[in-house]
Amino acid sequence: MPRTIIEPFRIKSVEPIRWTTRAQREKLLRAAHYNLFLLSADDVLIDLLTDSGTGAMSTHQWAAVMEGDESYAGSKSFERFRTSIQDIFGYTNVIPTHQGRAAERILFGVTCKRGDVVPNNTHFDTTRANVEFVGADAVDIVISEGREPQNRHPFKGNMDVTALRELIAHVGQERVPLVMLTVTNNAGGGQPVSMDNIRQVSAVCREHKIPLYFDACRFAENSYFIKLREPGYESKTPKQIAQEMFGYGDGCTMSAKKDGMANIGGFLCTNDDLLAQEQKDLLILTEGYPTYGGLAGRDLEAVAVGVQEALEEDYLRYRIASTAYLGNHISEQGVPIVQPPGGHAIYLDAREFLPHIPPDQFPGVALATELYLEGGIRSVEIGALMFGAAAKMDLVRLAIPRRVYTQSHIDYVVEIILEVWKKRSSIRGLKLRLTLFPLRQVLLVIPAIELHTLVPDLDRFLYRDVEEIAVMGDEHKGIWVVAEIVFKPVACLEIQMVRGFIEKQQIRFLQQELGERNSHLPSARELLGRPLPIFFAEAQAG
Ligand code: F0G
Repeated sequence: MPRTIIEPFRIKSVEPIRWTTRAQREKLLRAAHYNLFLLSADDVLIDLLTDSGTGAMSTHQWAAVMEGDESYAGSKSFERFRTSIQDIFGYTNVIPTHQGRAAERILFGVTCKRGDVVPNNTHFDTTRANVEFVGADAVDIVISEGREPQNRHPFKGNMDVTALRELIAHVGQERVPLVMLTVTNNAGGGQPVSMDNIRQVSAVCREHKIPLYFDACRFAENSYFIKLREPGYESKTPKQIAQEMFGYGDGCTMSAKKDGMANIGGFLCTNDDLLAQEQKDLLILTEGYPTYGGLAGRDLEAVAVGVQEALEEDYLRYRIASTAYLGNHISEQGVPIVQPPGGHAIYLDAREFLPHIPPDQFPGVALATELYLEGGIRSVEIGALMFGAAAKMDLVRLAIPRRVYTQSHIDYVVEIILEVWKKRSSIRGLKLRLTLFPLRQVLLVIPAIELHTLVPDLDRFLYRDVEEIAVMGDEHKGIWVVAEIVFKPVACLEIQMVRGFIEKQQIRFLQQELGERNSHLPSARELLGRPLPIFFAEAQAG
């Protein structure tokens, strides 16, 4: 008889979690304007918002933290960090960054320019934004099976190699500065990429002299899926598999908040010494000196130990089994999920779950808020809200933090999902609303002159209904349109949303970008009083 796969650790330090009643949660959700990002984490019982930076560190990691060498330059901690990473990834240059997106910004900043094209199986949203920020095109070419939630293909994260060849032929290899492979494919359901696919993508890249980079966030989980599912890898260790995988590439970006098992950290690797020099110059501008790159010595130590622990077989067996445990228990009862269960998360198919709610009423948001109301579980919508009308699916991601929750926590999550499943027909949809606020209450500030470039983006998630509004402005700041995007049925749900972004910091990002592009803005006096079109969606109960 098969034995239960148990958590391969015991608990030394505990963190209490807090119960709330449904009535309290209703109030809290209203106060958060139905935006789960605006909840206080203290009001969440089981937090499955992300697996990023939310893991529990081991005793070895905490011990290493005490070894942290906080020297500004040349610290021992950096040496240990580099040695540990090179042992697995094998690249000659290892550049620490404070997290994944910082590595992305530096990589695309030095390799891409306006008009370039970056193919990926599926870009994660910060990756896409960093590609687009430098004016390049981010193109997703995952295999067609990867877009079908019910398809049980073992490697749904694979890149469509024919599409890659066609894309390079179409745009010309000089416009493709690099190809990226995301392992595992987060935006596509946490699905793995096979070694065979990596080999083929690498061959196409070599043939065209295009470097291949990995978005390596969940490299250990991907390696274990290869061991489980790909013939010829059964008796290899996850580390050997990871080493082989990275051997087919020229570098990587990494968020150590995932398979680095740390609460903060990341890195950028490359075999290209010249490029590394340019990257370090940029690093110094925003992250810090190349031997710490935005991290404390103790953070470097935690990552150095963490990347190795992520590859331990006992850990990976439990990790993949516990994610599948959640997926299988709910899908057995008919709950529609992206199949097969991914490495770090289960994705509920909200369009199937709530077929009576049309996509423009955000079935994903409706389901995510109901999971919170029913059981205090926080998840994240990945669908029409995150990607606008361009969203191909409406998913709710239940991401599982590493080494944090036990089987009974997951059993509770199963119970809540099944209760919500039973009463699914009573769940109502939501509508987005855009309202205008005076400057002091600004959430989304759009210089009017840029509206024409933003309108297509707004259109993606605001849907129709154009209204004319007068712009505000003054001589010094130029013309501004001030808008806040809100939800019904509540008074105002703040969705910080620019190009598919839903995190606050990304608004600042946009402002910075617009500020740079608008240094040539005509004076306010020239434009003042001229009405400009803006999208306005009226509030309605779904
Ligand atoms: N690439 C992938 C595939 C990711 O999943 C993430 C982050 C990043 C890059 C960026 O890394 O957050 O350290 O800057 N994903 C988190 C998530 C935020 O919830 O999936 P970061």
